[in-house]
Order: sequence, then C-alpha cells, then structure tokens
Amino acid sequence: MWPDLIKKAKEGGLDAIETYVFWNAHEPLRRQYDFTGNLDLVRFIKTIQDQGLYSVLRIGPYVCAEWNYGGFPVWLHNQPGIEIRTANTVYMNEMQNFTTLIVDMMKQEKLFASQGGPIILAQIENEYGNVISSYGDAGKAYMNWCANMAQSLDIGVPWIMCQQSDAPEPMINTCNGWYCDQFTPNNPNSPKMWTENWTGWFKSWGGKDPFRTAEDLAFSVARFFQLGGSFQNYYMYHGGTNFGRTAGGPYITTSYDYDAPLNEYGSLNQPKYGHLKQLHDVLHSIEKTLTYGNISNTDFGNSVSATIYAVNDTSSCLFGNANTTTDATITYQGVEYNVPAWSVSILPDCKNEVYNTAKTSVMVKKSNEAEDEPSALKWTWRPENIIDETVVLGKGQVSASQLIDQKITNDVSDYLWYMTSVNLDKDDPILTDDMSIRVNGTGHIMHAYINGEYIGSQWAEYGIFNYVFEKKVKLNPGKNQITLLSATIGLQNYGPRFDLIDTGLPGPVEIIGKKDDDEIIIKDLSQHKWSYKVGLKGLDNELIYSDKKFASEWQSENLPINKMMTWYKTTFKAPLGEEPVVVDMQGLGKGLAWVNGNSLGRYWPSYIAEDGCSTEPCDYRGSYDNSKCVKNCGQPTQRWYHVPRSFMTEDDNELVLFQEFGGNPSLVNFQTVRPGTVCGNAYENKNMELSCEGRTISAINFASFGDVQGICGSFKKGSCEATNDALSIIQNACVGKESCSVAATEGVFGSTKCEEGTSKRLVVEAVC
Ligand code: GAL
Repeated sequence: MWPDLIKKAKEGGLDAIETYVFWNAHEPLRRQYDFTGNLDLVRFIKTIQDQGLYSVLRIGPYVCAEWNYGGFPVWLHNQPGIEIRTANTVYMNEMQNFTTLIVDMMKQEKLFASQGGPIILAQIENEYGNVISSYGDAGKAYMNWCANMAQSLDIGVPWIMCQQSDAPEPMINTCNGWYCDQFTPNNPNSPKMWTENWTGWFKSWGGKDPFRTAEDLAFSVARFFQLGGSFQNYYMYHGGTNFGRTAGGPYITTSYDYDAPLNEYGSLNQPKYGHLKQLHDVLHSIEKTLTYGNISNTDFGNSVSATIYAVNDTSSCLFGNANTTTDATITYQGVEYNVPAWSVSILPDCKNEVYNTAKTSVMVKKSNEAEDEPSALKWTWRPENIIDETVVLGKGQVSASQLIDQKITNDVSDYLWYMTSVNLDKDDPILTDDMSIRVNGTGHIMHAYINGEYIGSQWAEYGIFNYVFEKKVKLNPGKNQITLLSATIGLQNYGPRFDLIDTGLPGPVEIIGKKDDDEIIIKDLSQHKWSYKVGLKGLDNELIYSDKKFASEWQSENLPINKMMTWYKTTFKAPLGEEPVVVDMQGLGKGLAWVNGNSLGRYWPSYIAEDGCSTEPCDYRGSYDNSKCVKNCGQPTQRWYHVPRSFMTEDDNELVLFQEFGGNPSLVNFQTVRPGTVCGNAYENKNMELSCEGRTISAINFASFGDVQGICGSFKKGSCEATNDALSIIQNACVGKESCSVAATEGVFGSTKCEEGTSKRLVVEAVC
C-alpha cells in the first residue's frame, strides 16, 4: 500500500512523511534483526523520496504510538540489571546500539538530507519530558545522554526531542497535542515545530470511537501558522491497522483508524482530507510571505486578531477568531470580513478570503458502507489441543515456586498457562461445602479450570486493568489440578515506568473454605510450585499455514458453536475489484485471525462499546479532547477487520480463526468498503465537488442552494431557497459521472430571498 498512500498524501498537499521506527519489530530477538518485507525501512524512505517528499525519522526508539510495549522489545526488560528509560548502562548500551544501527543504515543509503536524501529531521526519545520527573536526577542525566549520543552520530540534519522543554541545544524541542499555537521552543532561535497534531484519537476495546471535526483540525493548523509555526505534522495522517500483536495497550483495538485524513483502509476520509488539502494549497500559495515575511499583528479584542506577513509589497493575512461562540466582523483596510467563531480565514493577498477553516466545501463520505460478498462460507474446525496437557495434566515447560510476570516469556504469545496442583488430606479443614478460588490478575483476560473442568473467565473492564476473579469450586481430597490461562491484549505503551507494570497473574491465588460457623480458612497458593506453558498448540503446529503438517486434520462435521478454545478454517475468493476488503466478524467472541498465514490481529466484536454518545452533531467550536466527539456507543467496539488485498491471491484464500471465548462463525463474511452516500457542501462563490472515488454517481437525493439545515444524511431546505430547481441542475451535472464540480452561485441557482449576512451554501446528497 505504500506508494498509493504516499501518493494520496502528496496529492493531499503534504511535503513530508513522518514515521516512527519500531525497535521490537526490527530486533525481535536480541541482535537478530528484521528489515524484510513491510519492515524494510530503507525501501519505505526511498518510496517517499521517489515521490518527491521529505521524511522525518522518529527513531525513538521508545515510541509510545499505541504500539505493543511502546516499541520496546520485551527481551530488553529481561536483560539482567536493566532499568529502562533512565541512566542505566545496560539500557543505554542497547538503546545506543539500535539507534546507531538505524542511523548507519540511513547513512549508508545516503538518506539524510545532508547526503542528498529525503530525511530532514530525526528524533531521539519520545515525550520524555512528560515523565522525566518520576526518574529524578537519573532522568535528567539520561535525557542529556540521549541528546549527546544522538549528536555524536553526526547525521548532518537537526535532531528533535518532542515534549522536552529542557532539551539541551542544539536539540530542538517540539510540541505534541491537539493545539500547539501557544507553544514556544526553549531556544528562542529554534523554529516552532509541531510533531504530532492529533487528527482524532485511537480506540480501545469497550471504549467509544473518538472523532475530530475537519473544521477544528483545520483551525488548529491555520492558527498555528498564524501564530508563527513553521512545521506541523499530522498524527496520524494514515493510522492503518495494528496487525499481528502490534497493538499496544492494554486494550488498544486492531483498527488504528484514528479518524485520520486517510482512513484505516487508505481511502480518503472526507471532508477532512479535502478540507485540509485546500488549506495546504492555500498555505503553499503564500509560502514566500509565510517564510520570509515580516510579521505584524492587530488585536481586535475578544480573541480576534489579524496577522500580516509581508515581503516587500506583497502581503498575506490570517484573520483568527478563537472565540468559542461569537462570530466576528472585522474591518481591515476599509473592508469588512466575517470570521466565524473558532476559525481562521486566509487572505493570500490580504483582500480576498480564499479559505476559512470553518467552511468545509468538499464531499463527505458516510462511513462503513460495505458491500456484501454473497457466498456463505463453509467452515471446518478443530479443538485447541493444548487443553489436554494443561487443563487435565498440568504439564508445562518450566516451573517455579512463585507466580511469574508474563513478560518473562519475552512476549512471544498472548497466552501463558499457569498450572499448579493442591493435595488435600481428606480431613483438611479447608474442605467444606462452601469453597472458592480467588485470583488477583492484571492479565488482561483469565480463564480458569479446576480438575479438567472450565469454571469461568474474567476480563479487565475497559480502563481498569486489575481484577479479582472469585468463583465457587468443589475440591476433592487428594490431588486437585488448577490451571489458569492468562491472555494479554497489548502491553502498556505509555506512562512513567510503564515497562514495569504487572502483566499476567501477579496473585495472590488463594483457595478459600468457609465453615458453617463462618470461620474462613484460606490457603495461599502463590508460592506453590507452578508450571508454565506459553502459547497455543495450534500455533506451534502451524495451523495457520495451509501447507504444513497438520493442515489436513480439520473436521467438517458437527461444527461447534459457542465453544471456547476452538479453531475454525474456511476458504474464500477475494472480492472482485480494487476496493478495500474487510471481514465482518459479527457473531464471534474474542480471538485471533489469519488470512493465508498473515495475521489480521486480535478480534473481539462481542465487546460492546460503552454508552454515552450524544445524538447532536459535535460542535467543532471550542477546545477538542478525545472525549468531546464520540460515536459507536452500544455497538461492537470493532466489527470489521481490514484484509489488505496484498494478503490475498486470486485463487482460493484461507481464513483461520482462533476463537478463545466461543462464538458463531456462520455470520462471518467478506465485504468491500466503498462510499455509499456522498455529500457535497459549498459556501457561496465556491465550487462544490462531488466524487464517488472511481464509481459513478447514480442518483441525487437532495440538492438545495440557500440556508440549508442539517447534516449529511438528513439535510433540510432552509427558508430562503434559490428559485431555480437545484435538484435537476445537479442531476444534469453529476449523474453518470465519477465526479462533478458545480459553482455555488446565484448565477447558477437563481436568486434567494435570504437576509443580508446569511451564509448561503449549496448542499447535495448523492448516491454512488
Ligand atoms: C503521544 C505519543 C504518540 C501517541 C499519541 C497518542 O503522546 O507521542 O506516540 O501515543 O500520544 O496517540
């Protein structure tokens, strides 16, 4: 997908592509590196260069990024004597080793701008300033060491440290956030740079789906440039999918759509993409004045101001209104301009308003319109065979007289089996009619089995990752087998000393016997001899690949429904066409999915997102945060899972599911995603653009020019509609075409009876 994504980014008006470097992806085992396939960093940077863009390389190598363990390989945690992200030689040696490797690799390929390559900036660490205080003096020493180490690598382009207000020169500290117009770098000679403008926010299992309006995002950008900003990066411009086990956590979903301008599938997220493209075009058109101009400001009070950038006799103006509710009318050089609340107008010549951040005039795509692939899938299945060994026999690979942290396994799997046995004398006082087991877990999921029987599961609630599992049990005199399966859903990726957060079952694990007289007897099993086994048999046996030894041992009879720990397999043909493909996982619980051996990531459609969405459209005015605009309440947190076309062949493809909780695969089906309804919206004297992205516009549901009310999907005519028949004008101009452009003027649509000062617009809803 790289060339296509980069091409769309360039067409969207970007000049540079910023990327992190993921240490745990490139060095999965100590000193064993992987730069093949999608991990080919050099090829990625060269692909950027080939399209004439610059690149910003955020090496980190701690990156956060909602990525498993913030990008640290978990073996790092298991190095003797290590303390991560502080002045500790074991850690610093490893960090330096990896950073140097990346820098040398870039140098060798002549990829730094100083060598004629595209990389104009490089980053060391990531937002260390947010957590430095919890590391005391050692934190400060580490931060200075990072700066010196980076400088010593001599890359010929500047190094940046984001959110590091005490970054030593010549490091440049940069800002991350939803707004950075108020940011000032610590060195007055440094440019004001914004490494992460959050275009939306990520999604967590059980959480609502945050989105950020195009108007507010555009406002944050224009405001930043009005107030002297020189570099602004979207985080994310394209977030994509957390395939495999890359999602961080805990509980970050497989989709990392982020409401970014290019959506999870790489399609244009409208109106955001188009509205920003127009902004970028305007900013490019005034590049000279913005970069060389003398700056003067006029403050009109009430958060309204004008900034003029002037070079010789050319000047460009940005009029800003940071008021959250009141529109402003300002007079500049004798002319009146209306600046809506929470917006910036750009006048490249200080006379004509070419762009206003609050006036979107491009098409909107209603999301999640998917087209069904009709054929029903035929399934085969097999049980997860590990159960016999672990649940019945309690056989592990290693043992210890303590409960271990799951990170000790180097995070090679989500799954770790904890097994112990308890011998009870027939007159042990704990043997009562009222017995239970109690487990303290941080897991994030646990399934418990006693004497070969499943007794229950527990999973952390969204946002609360510690739990206590307590369940009535019946234990027998003699040997009792206790097996607990712990499953992680992405290791913590952010926070002070996040690397040390407990993972798995830290305990205690207790059995409790209550007597008739309310006397309680507790046996703490935490120091018992526990045996451990990592992972799933089905993965050891390579069930996900069709050409391996056990590939034939699948059954087609008696397909189980709602059965835990079950593998399912089916074959399917790739949906025709070029549109992105998703698999609808409705009906399933939690598990892992693969197409032709490529992991689609974790799925969990049965996890319903919490309530609390508003039915009102989200007001773009006023400060945004990730709880302000949300959707998808009460729906599966993630129902559709991206299957990149590169994972599929033209012949039969194989989908393999591991179903951990139990579910019904009969509703699973493949779909393509395409725009269904598109809406066009243009303010007076602008052009309204409609496009079905490669399909033809088949019908027009609504068209009106005037004071139209409502939003895409529910537009209503206003009280002063233009006299000509807007519907037939738009039908003639657009139906049967892939895209069309119509001028929103009274010349085209006839006169309106709107009052002076009404902002008139042309609004269209079309079917693709
Ligand atoms: C920042 C961090 C990014 C990402 C972002 C939230 O703090 O630098 O890597 O995690 O938050 O999406």
